[in-house]
Amino acid sequence: MSEDVDRLLDLRGGVARVWTRYTDLVVARASGSWLETVDGERYLDYTCGIGVTNTGHAHPRVVAAIAEQAARGIHLQQNIVFHEPGLRLHERLPRHFPNPRDGDAYALFLANSGAEAVEAAVKLAKYATRRPAIVAFRGGFHGRTHAAMALTSSGVKYRGHYEPLPGSVYLAPFPYALRNPTGRSDEAALQFTLDAIDELFATLVYPEDVAAFVVEPILGEGGYVVPPDGFLPALREIADRHGILLAVDEIQTGFARTGRFFATEWTDATPDIVIMAKGIASGLPLSGILAPRALLDRLEPGAHGGTFGGNAVACAAALATLDVIDDEGLVEAARRQGDRLLSGLRSVAADHPSVAEVRGRGLMVALEFTEPETLKPMPERAKALLAAALERRLLLLTCGTYGQVVRIIPPLNTTDDEIDLAIEIIGESLGAD
Ligand SMILES: Cc1ncc(COP(=O)(O)O)c(C=O)c1O
Repeated sequence: MSEDVDRLLDLRGGVARVWTRYTDLVVARASGSWLETVDGERYLDYTCGIGVTNTGHAHPRVVAAIAEQAARGIHLQQNIVFHEPGLRLHERLPRHFPNPRDGDAYALFLANSGAEAVEAAVKLAKYATRRPAIVAFRGGFHGRTHAAMALTSSGVKYRGHYEPLPGSVYLAPFPYALRNPTGRSDEAALQFTLDAIDELFATLVYPEDVAAFVVEPILGEGGYVVPPDGFLPALREIADRHGILLAVDEIQTGFARTGRFFATEWTDATPDIVIMAKGIASGLPLSGILAPRALLDRLEPGAHGGTFGGNAVACAAALATLDVIDDEGLVEAARRQGDRLLSGLRSVAADHPSVAEVRGRGLMVALEFTEPETLKPMPERAKALLAAALERRLLLLTCGTYGQVVRIIPPLNTTDDEIDLAIEIIGESLGAD
């Protein structure tokens, strides 16, 4: 190894230890589904940088759009001027609003990170309704700023020792059939959630004081839990009854990840606010919210904003990302390759009683490890799978409150051979149980 590489590896000690670290790899370049380290090893990246590089690493069309816009202007500040990629994105992205209502026009507000988009959604809901409270769901993850932390309950490490957090946030159970206390069916899990919301309104907060439900269509950090299809429509109905807004956090589920452009489209529920980030710009920091224009424009000039929101280069990357999703048929690809991955994983996991469930939608796929009888979470099994897969040059991530779930997040244009390789490696890495 050259002295330069040695020196680079030593510099890893300088990075703040607050970053949870899955690997010590130092990457020299990344392309498509693959990472190459400074010492020349190749890894199949089925983390997508936590669900971001849906079009693969460094897609040539995204790279070209970034280079072209960077040469024409990097920071063209939103309060001061308009810029071409921003204007085009404001026209184009609202067309993807899930289950739009006839006669509504939809609009976009852009920020930088997922947490910032969650803040924007909460601020909009409070400002527009003049109501103080938010109802979020147990196991949800919405980010690391103070309001986003207050909505987050996927793990105490995300919010513990940060009290006091913003108040008037109430948590209801997310329908999680495998862990539902009243029975392991979707019906029982949904009923448990709906009863808990009724109880919340009867005991802790009047529904007319609630500004919004904030909910992930599929639980991300909380364990890749796919709720019953009736869940979002049921929330929509409760929201309509009480004048509450429905804000869906599509940060991890959006941009074709689940085999629909947004996962909300697996149901017929129309949200009021769609919160987006991660896959929006194939890796450049960009996020935003979509809402009916009449709702979004309740925020008066200056009531929200930010120096970097809607960065020109990030908007150019987002437009190229949308082109790639359309031209390469990535919505359908996510569905097709998701089926291939799910069925392959189900067959390699069949002989492993500690795999309680192989689940997912599109290319948002996971295995949950539990003791077979008690359903006690087995994070050690998930950790061992990650380590064994890493040795075989496959990168995976965990999630779930106890770290008992392994999530598999391939790029949406991953090939059949790559999927089959990942299934083979996971099969070999499952070990004995
Ligand atoms: C569903 C969801 N919401 C919000 C966030 C926060 O996004 P960011 O890390 O960009 O602030 C994440 C990040 O993992 C997420 O998965």
